[in-house]
Amino acid sequence: MREKEQALQLHLQRFGEVGRAFAAPARVNLIGEHTDYTGGLVMPMAIGFRTVAVLSPRVDNRAVFYSASFDEEVSFEIASMGLTPEGRWSDYPAGVLWSLRQEGVEIGGFNMSLMGDVPLGAGLSSSASLEVAAAMALLGHAKEALPLKKLATLCRRAENEYVGAKSGIMDQFVVGGAIANRAMLLDCRSLEFELLPLPAEVRVVICNSMVKHAVSTGVYGDRRDEVEAGQAVLRERLGFELLRDATLADLEACRAEMSAASFLRCRHIIAENGRVKVAREALLQGEVKRFGDVMVEAHASMRDDFAASCVEIDALVEIAMQQEDCFGARITGGGFGGCTVNLVRAEAAEGFVAVLRKAYQEKTGMIAECVVSAPTDGALALAEQGGVRSIQ
Ligand code: GLA
Repeated sequence: MREKEQALQLHLQRFGEVGRAFAAPARVNLIGEHTDYTGGLVMPMAIGFRTVAVLSPRVDNRAVFYSASFDEEVSFEIASMGLTPEGRWSDYPAGVLWSLRQEGVEIGGFNMSLMGDVPLGAGLSSSASLEVAAAMALLGHAKEALPLKKLATLCRRAENEYVGAKSGIMDQFVVGGAIANRAMLLDCRSLEFELLPLPAEVRVVICNSMVKHAVSTGVYGDRRDEVEAGQAVLRERLGFELLRDATLADLEACRAEMSAASFLRCRHIIAENGRVKVAREALLQGEVKRFGDVMVEAHASMRDDFAASCVEIDALVEIAMQQEDCFGARITGGGFGGCTVNLVRAEAAEGFVAVLRKAYQEKTGMIAECVVSAPTDGALALAEQGGVRSIQ
């Protein structure tokens, strides 16, 4: 309850009012990268970092957002708000307000404080965490509740149309709907999902390379354009609506009609969907080594075919895989920096982190930040428990 108390206290100091607190976690993706925006498969889980949004009503019709991380306040008249992003943190909660209003949710004036411990630019989805926390607070204020699919879709819309980042549905969905101690296998076309337990003998270790990653700017959008160009060829030639339906043989048949880059990006995605299925089987059978092997293949594919890794991340994966107790390691999230996710024998997790940090520093001069993470609850489960459940 510590985070919730802190956030309520901060809000009280800032606005002189007692508010209501809502929390949303960050996430790590175990496998299934860059598959979500072509209707594919992903397997993320929510993790212990969180954003807390505290809201109290105002008598006028203004939206006031205060970010403790940036120590900045942004405010405007709700009725006259347009699609006017400013290229800063407030675009995320303002985008959610915009998206909910587009949906017909009526929202009166409010003060909202935002705080949290999700590392920014680490590929752990600080943006979805912020969006979903803000959405939960705004819905509480409007006395509305939305089912998971709608909540995730509206938060994604905020990110796509208001913030202007062309991300898929994975992050908002798992941040909203995760359940403690389970990974989530999500079909990004049907939005059907399955909750899968992780074997007791392993831990998930997340290592931050400290190389900043951003979805809203840069090459994430370029990659997506390359993928969509390839998908358009497959659609035209073979009638597939989404890359999800194509096989590697279909892609090969269309190779001459697309750029070399599009071919490689699509090859990654088609193969990655297959790897997620293998990972699911491995989890159901308790085959930790098989899961690890498919993670390593996924990393090679992100590096070589999707061209979304970097030397620091490759170094982290290489060092990890030299350790006997590590079953698998790969880049996680959008790419171009951020974090790796590692599947490590439970009793060896701490030693693994120590060796990895030392070797990484020797190799790159940088200090990696590492956490051992168990799957946590998403925002909806946290709200049902009446707020923020403390992290063990
Ligand atoms: C970012 C996006 C997601 C997804 C991943 C890559 O996290 O927000 O929608 O595309 O990158 O798997």
